[in-house]
Amino acid sequence: MMFEIEKTRKTRVKICASLLAADFGNLVDSVQAAEDAGCDEIHFDVMDGNFVPNLSFGPQILETVRNVTKLPIEVHMMVKEPGRFIREFSDAGGTLFTIHYEACTDINKTLDKIAKTGMMAGIALKPETSADSILGLLTEVSRILIMTVEPGLGGQQFLVGMLDKISEIKKLVGKIDGNLDIGVDGGIKIDTAQMATEAGANTLISGTGLFNYPDGLSAAVRLMRQNSSTPA
Ligand code: DX5
Ligand code: ZN
Repeated sequence: MMFEIEKTRKTRVKICASLLAADFGNLVDSVQAAEDAGCDEIHFDVMDGNFVPNLSFGPQILETVRNVTKLPIEVHMMVKEPGRFIREFSDAGGTLFTIHYEACTDINKTLDKIAKTGMMAGIALKPETSADSILGLLTEVSRILIMTVEPGLGGQQFLVGMLDKISEIKKLVGKIDGNLDIGVDGGIKIDTAQMATEAGANTLISGTGLFNYPDGLSAAVRLMRQNSSTPA
């Protein structure tokens, strides 16, 4: 009986709304709608036209978002040498500053700089970057963000091949004494959220899967939560 209880115990997943899929003409409304729908966090994608081909938002827009929500905001830096902009995004109200492993020449130095601002730090991995590349960094960060598409664009298909990487990271995280988020970003919809959480993710970042859900944002959040079953 005890065993049955253990087996079915689940961790509550975090659902994070990626503003890349929001209505930019009514950004404030989109942020409030995400909060009202029960999202746990806002995801703010920064692109530099270099690390990824596109451009997106900067710190001024982050400040606008910060002023209309109390939710934590993850700043996902798809930017080469993101250490150059830590101060700006911290002052603008970022909660968690996530940098790409592939974008930094000195990742330890960059993580130290983030810690000094009081923001939490995350490390994102492109699909081709292996799980064990971040082995020595797990105790330095609050979140590992596994890209489940090539970074730089919303609305792409979830890469099923990333499920093994999610499980590997889950195993690595289980070996350390810490409480790390295992996030997935890209192509997260109700069905892929289920696959990702079964593999070990506990933090779901979703843009089009939430904002473009035919029955509305609240229904998407409810169903995504219902269908996500991270093992404890
Ligand atoms: C893509 C971004 C994502 C993007 C996800 O590079 O990092 O956060 O908004 O978009 P969807 O959920 O539409 O795949
Ligand atoms: Zn992102």
